Amino acid sequence: MSKKFYITTPIYYPSASPHLGHAYCTTLCDVIARAKRMRGYETYFLTGLDEHGEKIQKNAAAKGVTPQAFVDEVATRFHALWDAMKISNDGFIRTTEPRHEKTVQKIFSTMLAKGDIYLSTYTGWYCVHEESYWTATQVGDEHLCPECGRPCEQKDEEAYFYRCQQYVDDLLGFYDSNPLFITPESRKNEMVNTFIKPGLMDLCVSRTSFSWGIQVVENPSHVVYVWLDALTNYITALGYLQEDDSLFQKFWMDENCEIVHVIGADINRFHTIYWPMFLQSLGLRKPNRVFVHGLLMMKDGKMSKSKGNAISAYPLIERYGVDAVRYYMVSEVPFGQNGTFTPEQFVMRINQDLVNNFGNLLNRTVSMMAKYFGGIVPAYAAANDGLDEEIDALIRSTKVAYEALNDDLQVTQAYEKVMELVSRANKYIEEKAPWALAKDSAKKEELEGVMARLAHVVYASALMLSPILVEKCNEVYASLGVEEPSYEDIAKLGVLSGKQTKKGDILFPRLDTEQEVAAIIEMMNGPKEKAAA
Ligand code: ME8
Repeated sequence: MSKKFYITTPIYYPSASPHLGHAYCTTLCDVIARAKRMRGYETYFLTGLDEHGEKIQKNAAAKGVTPQAFVDEVATRFHALWDAMKISNDGFIRTTEPRHEKTVQKIFSTMLAKGDIYLSTYTGWYCVHEESYWTATQVGDEHLCPECGRPCEQKDEEAYFYRCQQYVDDLLGFYDSNPLFITPESRKNEMVNTFIKPGLMDLCVSRTSFSWGIQVVENPSHVVYVWLDALTNYITALGYLQEDDSLFQKFWMDENCEIVHVIGADINRFHTIYWPMFLQSLGLRKPNRVFVHGLLMMKDGKMSKSKGNAISAYPLIERYGVDAVRYYMVSEVPFGQNGTFTPEQFVMRINQDLVNNFGNLLNRTVSMMAKYFGGIVPAYAAANDGLDEEIDALIRSTKVAYEALNDDLQVTQAYEKVMELVSRANKYIEEKAPWALAKDSAKKEELEGVMARLAHVVYASALMLSPILVEKCNEVYASLGVEEPSYEDIAKLGVLSGKQTKKGDILFPRLDTEQEVAAIIEMMNGPKEKAAA
């Protein structure tokens, strides 16, 4: 039976166009999903949009359109960006779809019937201008709205609440017995110390102050709180409580399927405290891991639409190709840490890794293959010396490390290992000096071994890099004469023998730092998005 893997991104708010930060999270998930598929895992990769809530309703009103028309339009921009980034999602969920809305109503009813949700009164500090409730801490002693600074008033509203306390002990026990549930670990401590230990309040799970949401069947003046609505997307998208629930059975109900939610730190509390509780209410298993990634920032802080400092992915893709943008994201911002986008680092990363290292190895290998062997990959001769042995061992150990690091979601490190293999092979060329071996007929077999090894390193690296370099690896395979690349070939050291290699176009052209930095700065100052233009 094949191994199963279910990975999700957050469902983003279509309150404005997606920016490079959204693309970062989705791309990382895509890279993880592609690597699992390549390794034979039955994989389901979900992304989508979180389309309800007051903010959307307000943004739509400001534009003079219905909320549905508003989200429909923004949704096309998300789809366009995922197409441009070559995202391979298997599912896409929008919370305004009937399949989701109906299921959320059933979920709410189940929780209500069970007594996990009860009707009471919400008391908070209300800002009329922002139409938002704030807590006493947020408004401070002067009772001012943290958003607009206007005075707030204390107000009551009938609301449904989710009973949290009864599940707190189970949740802490679950954390203890599943130490990888929240990764990195510091994110778990934050949840326990900041939110759970001081005493978790019951969560308000309905609203009556606006209407753009899923109606509570039992009390139609209420709409379901956007987070209860949104979190359940991870199961409604699989068909939970729907006529065809085969995906749900396959990916959620199978205890052996690994379920991973990838999120930003801003939404950790919802995913690691409330979501496991909601699942417990429904008698369902919890995900295996919630991976909290870092933020892609700009020099002046978090990239955000409201700050106007967001850079769009489109001009970068247009100028450097989608693979370069994807590679930058994986390699430059260690998965789990924050990173700052700078034009200098972008250019440097591409030149250093893709041009000087990977592209260079391919180029040198194919050129020498043409020169010494008419382009035909020679037989993989037994190791002639320690250097050959080292390369053989490194190919194998890199594959093992790549898999282990990927399984542990250490994505950046997994690809670093591949680049280390590529660097080692470039150095091996200098050490072995094929041009010198070629001058000595007694060294023919050694030269064959060197060239076969180089070709294999290029092939193995391309296979391992293919979840990122979704376009260029196909050019590499074509250059190596490989028609049907297979991940399993990595361990088959002689598999390329007899292949006809050929020189293709330069894989990644060298970037002129000064010129390209200037070009990127212009992009950052230029039109922010394509679809809106
Ligand atoms: O919070 N760098 O939606 P959202 C990296 N709808 N990642 C970033 C980022 C940045 N600068 N900015 C945003 C919501 N993100 C809810 C989620 S899930 C059931 C509901 C990513 O549109 C990051 O993953 O505000 C963050 O958690 C997510 O977008 C928030 O997206």
